[in-house]
Amino acid sequence: EKGGYEHFMLKEIHEIPRVIDDTLSEHMDREFDLGYDKFVFVACGTSYHAGLIAKHVIEKVAKLPVRVEIASEFNYHPPPERATYIAITQSGETADTLEAMRLAKKLGNRVVTIANVLGSTATRIADETLFTRAGPEISVAATKSFISQLIVIYVLAFKLSNRIDLLNELEKISGEVRKILDNKEDIEDVAEILSKYRNLMYVGRGIAYPTAMEGALKMKEISYIHAEAYPAGELKHGPFALLGKDMPVIACVVRDETYEIMLNNIKEIKARGSFVLAISDENDEEIEKYVDHVVKLPAVNPLLTPITQSVALQLLAYYTAKLRGCEIDKPRNLAKSVTVE
Ligand code: M6R
Repeated sequence: EKGGYEHFMLKEIHEIPRVIDDTLSEHMDREFDLGYDKFVFVACGTSYHAGLIAKHVIEKVAKLPVRVEIASEFNYHPPPERATYIAITQSGETADTLEAMRLAKKLGNRVVTIANVLGSTATRIADETLFTRAGPEISVAATKSFISQLIVIYVLAFKLSNRIDLLNELEKISGEVRKILDNKEDIEDVAEILSKYRNLMYVGRGIAYPTAMEGALKMKEISYIHAEAYPAGELKHGPFALLGKDMPVIACVVRDETYEIMLNNIKEIKARGSFVLAISDENDEEIEKYVDHVVKLPAVNPLLTPITQSVALQLLAYYTAKLRGCEIDKPRNLAKSVTVE
């Protein structure tokens, strides 16, 4: 049932191009009427990271205000203003997310869910469900479901802003992901280097910061290496003290308005002795001058880099965990769906 793959996680990563196309065909032709023009995303874990990316994309492209809340913290400070609440949940059964949905509803808000499981509790609480078409995800680590959540979010943001040009670019993204899957040996090689460390720092700026957070979560979840994510500009406010030969840094680089300052941050990191792995795109000829290794991905619109970079970071976590002999599909102490608060 693993279709020839050694683990469900690797199989599910390889399903991503198909999942992207299926999720796109589910939502491309629909009209979105989500009620208010203010959004509050609530979610946990990887789904929360999808919410952070949603904030970036919706605020930047559709120019509508977005808040993102970790569901388990939401009860302590529900926003006073009416809004459309969007609960992101693969399983549709995460207790904290369900609780936040119930509270949002009780306070008179409109509640929508982006969910993967038909008939799940989230879909029964919500006024409306936007389904992701990831199919069953067996591995505890969320991979294809995360990308399918992002696809729904992009379609929503681009439709809200009538950006047909961006929708057209989105339609090509599955082909770009396929290229990453066809060239994964480079990622496997660099996993060999990372697998020997006890700590890793992930950095990003702008839209790449939540990507870095998701990369770090995937790494700690399955390889048991302590991994933290920081906005690159925040390192000098404390974490610089951690840099050096025992703290490699994975830099998620995007060629948008953050690029130049990100290069500066990378130079500052290198000057403090850390090994730096950059994730950038194939047209970036500058980056290799400053780092120890570059994973080059197909060049896509900067707004869509969370997709390409996350797939690369999922593979990086997978191969690192494999080299460390971890039980990849069922990491210790974790459950696929967290049904207790
Ligand atoms: O089913 P959900 O999307 O509500 O689950 C939320 C988190 O438990 C989940 O994303 C978790 O963080 C993943 N296992 C991480 O890979």
